[in-house]
Amino acid sequence: MSRKARLAVLVSGGGSNLQAIIDACQQNNLNAEVAVVVSNRDKIYALERAKKHNIETIVALPKDFPDKTIYSQYIADELKKRNIDLVCLAGYLLKLEPNFVRSFKGRIINIHPALLPKFGGDGMYGHFVHEAVLKAKEKESGPTVHFVDEVYDNGEIILQAKVPVLPNDTPDTLAKRVLEQEHKIYPEAIKIVLSKLGF
Ligand code: GRF
Repeated sequence: MSRKARLAVLVSGGGSNLQAIIDACQQNNLNAEVAVVVSNRDKIYALERAKKHNIETIVALPKDFPDKTIYSQYIADELKKRNIDLVCLAGYLLKLEPNFVRSFKGRIINIHPALLPKFGGDGMYGHFVHEAVLKAKEKESGPTVHFVDEVYDNGEIILQAKVPVLPNDTPDTLAKRVLEQEHKIYPEAIKIVLSKLGF
């Protein structure tokens, strides 16, 4: 397919992975464009990043919807309207409901800051992940990009990168080392998935 793939990136925070994806598109490392950025919170830096690049943003606050299923359906419908080919969760902290997963089956991916299947699941996000890795005295950690299915942090693994866990690490120093790798492997993983989708 010669046309560019249309990506939706879902965010809840700083958006450094969003930035890595935007950069990879602009440098033509990906035959793709970020068509829309969706956030479940307002006033987050990820939205500023999108605006700087003239990327459309949708802020959908869960409190404005009667329930989670209707919320998920709203986002799915907005993405369908925009002919999104691949949904990339990048620091998105809400769990997507089964109706959303069904709408984009096989076309939703996520990045997690640990080596799944270890250190995944409910409550395992942000600093909690790195704290758990240190507490378990792991020798290595690193990000995982995986497909999203209806079970949290469970879908097929696309790519992982490993970093050492150092004796004096704190959750912050480990998070930083892992995040550097996230920015490398997320665009690479998108490339792999897009090529499977025919791009
Ligand atoms: C990353 O550590 C990612 O693995 C996790 O949330 C963090 C998002 O960081 N899912 P950013 O918003 O992309 O900077």
